[in-house]
Amino acid sequence: MSDNTILILAMRWTHILTAITAIGGTIFIRFVLIPVAESVLDDETHARLRAGLVKRWQKFVHTCIMMFLISGFYNYFVVTGPAHSGQPLYHALFGIKFLLALAVFGLAVVLTSTKDWSKGIRANAKTWLGLLVALGVVVVMVSGVMKNIPKSGVTPSSAQVTLNGNPGR
Ligand code: HEM
Repeated sequence: MSDNTILILAMRWTHILTAITAIGGTIFIRFVLIPVAESVLDDETHARLRAGLVKRWQKFVHTCIMMFLISGFYNYFVVTGPAHSGQPLYHALFGIKFLLALAVFGLAVVLTSTKDWSKGIRANAKTWLGLLVALGVVVVMVSGVMKNIPKSGVTPSSAQVTLNGNPGR
């Protein structure tokens, strides 16, 4: 066990739990809560539920963005990036993933904003939340591809690695 094994693990758990919370929460809101609220609530109660939900979910969104950035940059600069040195494909995928994640963060911030300028987008919340889920899924898929690229100097058949990303031999 290396000195920073605990930190590496903590950052990994943080990243995965944040993805579960953010994407799972968005799927629940878009495909369960909104359709049920639309069908059983009167307009006034629906508007109150919506305002309360946005205010509370906004805190989750902001915290998740912070967690993603801290654990993601740690992961990339300390753990996986160095382990993939000299592999342009890995770093290009990271660039694509990062840009997609920024789009996800921006859209999530707009959808949970209580300011007037975001009204137009929030009026079509169902459509934009659907896009948010789709983009989130693509980010997870790109991450899965990154994870399956063997580290530098490791052949696919010996791709067992230690937690710090170095070959486990
Ligand atoms: C929408 C936001 C994001 C989602 C849903 C997401 C999701 C994931 C998932 C599911 C993994 C695989 C975790 C594992 O198996 O250990 C992962 C890995 C990773 N993520 Fe993210 N992430 C997001 C944002 C970010 C950001 C903003 C960064 C960088 C600042 C980042 C950097 C990384 C790195 C470096 C890995 C390791 C990939 C590898 O195993 O080689 N992620 N992410």
